[in-house]
Amino acid sequence: MKILFYDTKSYDRESFQAILADYPNITIEYTKSDLDSRTAALAEGFDAVCAFVSSDIGAETLEILHSKEIGLILMRCAGFNNIDLDTARKYGIRIMRVPGYSPEAVAEHAMALALACNRRLYKAYNKVRENDFSLSGLMGFNFYQKTAGIIGTGKIGAAMCRICHGFGMKVIAHDVYQNESLKDFVEYVSLDRLLSDSDVISLHCPLMDSTYHIIDINTIKKMKDGVILVNTSRGALVKTDDLIEGIRMHKFAGVGLDVYEEETNNVFEDRSDEILEHSTTARLLSFPNVMITSHQGFFTREALEAIAATTLNNALDYQDGKKSANLV
Ligand code: NAI
Repeated sequence: MKILFYDTKSYDRESFQAILADYPNITIEYTKSDLDSRTAALAEGFDAVCAFVSSDIGAETLEILHSKEIGLILMRCAGFNNIDLDTARKYGIRIMRVPGYSPEAVAEHAMALALACNRRLYKAYNKVRENDFSLSGLMGFNFYQKTAGIIGTGKIGAAMCRICHGFGMKVIAHDVYQNESLKDFVEYVSLDRLLSDSDVISLHCPLMDSTYHIIDINTIKKMKDGVILVNTSRGALVKTDDLIEGIRMHKFAGVGLDVYEEETNNVFEDRSDEILEHSTTARLLSFPNVMITSHQGFFTREALEAIAATTLNNALDYQDGKKSANLV
């Protein structure tokens, strides 16, 4: 099977090449172009394409892929909201994905953000580099015996619960389903109680109609003063303008974000001054107690290895006509 690999980054190539020898019937050609209607024609002569969350796999792209006899799209990610599934079905194009790769990778990053905000690590780093060894502005609080509130206790939220439990925190959670594996040390509570009782709040639910802007000025007002809020899930869980209002009200000891509402507009890839000036993300960055990372929660060696292995196994299953739970 010949695969055209779109939107290749050096780390993608490394993780796939490291195991490709174990898949003698598969060859991969890499391109830096992302998959969309302008680049779909590059797939001529290939059997499958490998794409990512950033790809634009709408009707037009699928039409071109179909005309080039592509039967399989290998998504090297969990999400597939960027694919027109009806059109894919119409052309009989199969979509396979990687539903989970390393929940601990994201949960560990969420805790890293919480700790960095609490102990002002970014400020400490810069102060010491400038030869300022004073402790002013660096005081945090112990996580030990404080309350962690976890919203969404699926794979990543459950990993975050285990980490917080390991820190000696009291762990409360809110979810539409209770995760049985957590019953020994997690208490499920209403969203209101989670908001009012938690010292650290971490979001791990998916973005859906029911969770869109789950954190807005109303929910922020219900939080304790001096709370730490972490979002590694999806930007639009938090209404950014309201978050800024909450920060101005001195509600937060710290805010750690790996995802932000403007992410899909690639606001920081196009660093024009005008865009930055009007960007709410840039406004957030102006606050000293906000730390933003660039959607790197998943970005560990183990997660990339798991993504490569699952994607290539998906290709094999398709080739062998095997049933797979990873078929969308
Ligand atoms: P999952 O599907 O295992 O868990 C999601 C949980 O949220 C489920 O238990 C579900 O019942 C719960 N939920 C649904 N509606 C809810 C509501 N209204 N209130 C509270 N909980 C609700 O998903 P997983 O794998 O744990 O991923 C969670 C999110 O993490 C993903 O949706 C994605 O947005 C994000 N993510 C971020 C990454 C990063 O690099 N920062 C990488 C991978 C995922």
